[in-house]
Amino acid sequence: MGKVYVFDHPLIQHKLTYIRDKNTGTKEFRELVDEVATLMAFEITRDMPTEDIEIDTPVTKTTTQVLSGKKMAIVPILRAGLGMVDGMLKLIPAAKVAHIGLYRDPETLKPVEYYAKFPADIEEREFIIVDPMLATGGSAIEAIDSLKKRGAKNIKFMCLIAAPEGVEAIHEHHPEIDIYIAALDEKLNDHGYIVPGLGDAGDRLFGTK
Ligand code: PRP
Ligand code: URA
Repeated sequence: MGKVYVFDHPLIQHKLTYIRDKNTGTKEFRELVDEVATLMAFEITRDMPTEDIEIDTPVTKTTTQVLSGKKMAIVPILRAGLGMVDGMLKLIPAAKVAHIGLYRDPETLKPVEYYAKFPADIEEREFIIVDPMLATGGSAIEAIDSLKKRGAKNIKFMCLIAAPEGVEAIHEHHPEIDIYIAALDEKLNDHGYIVPGLGDAGDRLFGTK
C-alpha cells in the first residue's frame, strides 16, 4: 500500500498559514506556493539514488557522491499545478515538465481532461504529479490513470493540502501510489471544497474568480 507523507517542517507550515489566509493577495500567494514547492521538492527527492565518483579536492583524492542521473518529470495538473512547477525546478532543473489539463465540472465535481502532453521516454521516468489541492481525488485519479495508460511505471503525487476523502480515493483506485502533502485537513464541505483549506487554488494563484 502506498504511504502518505506529511511534510510538517516548520518553514512549510509557516508559509502554508499565509497561503491559507484569505487576506493574502495574489502576488504573495503565488510567491509562497512557489517557496513551499521548493521546500517540498527537497523532501520528496530524499530517496534519489546516488553513485560514487572519485574526485581530487585541493588536499587529496576522495570518493564522494553524485546523483546517478535518474530521469524525472514534474506533471502539473492545469491550471493550479502550474504554480508549483518553477519552485520544484529550482532544485531539479533537469526534470522534464509534462502537462495534464483537467478541470472539475462544478456541477458533478468530476474531472474533465482537455490537454495532455508527456515526454517520449515515459516508461523510464519517475513522475511527480503536482497540484495544490487534493479534494475528492477525482483530478488526481484521472491524472494517474492518464499517465499509467501511456506506460508510466513510477508515479508520486504531491500537493499542498489534502482532504482525507481524496487520500482514501487515490488509494482505493491506485493503492501503490505514495502521496506527499504539506497538510492533511479535516474534510470536504458540500461544494467539494477542503475545510479549512485555502479556497480555490487556481483563482487565488491567477487572480481570477
Ligand atoms: C482544483 C485543484 C485540483 C482539483 C482538486 O482544480 O487545483 O486540480 O480542483 O479537486 P478534486 O480532488 O475534487 O478533483 P480546478 O478544477 O478548480 O481547476 P483549475 O486548477 O483550473 O482552477
Ligand atoms: N479545488 C480547490 O481549488 N480548492 C478546494 O478546496 C477544492 C478543490
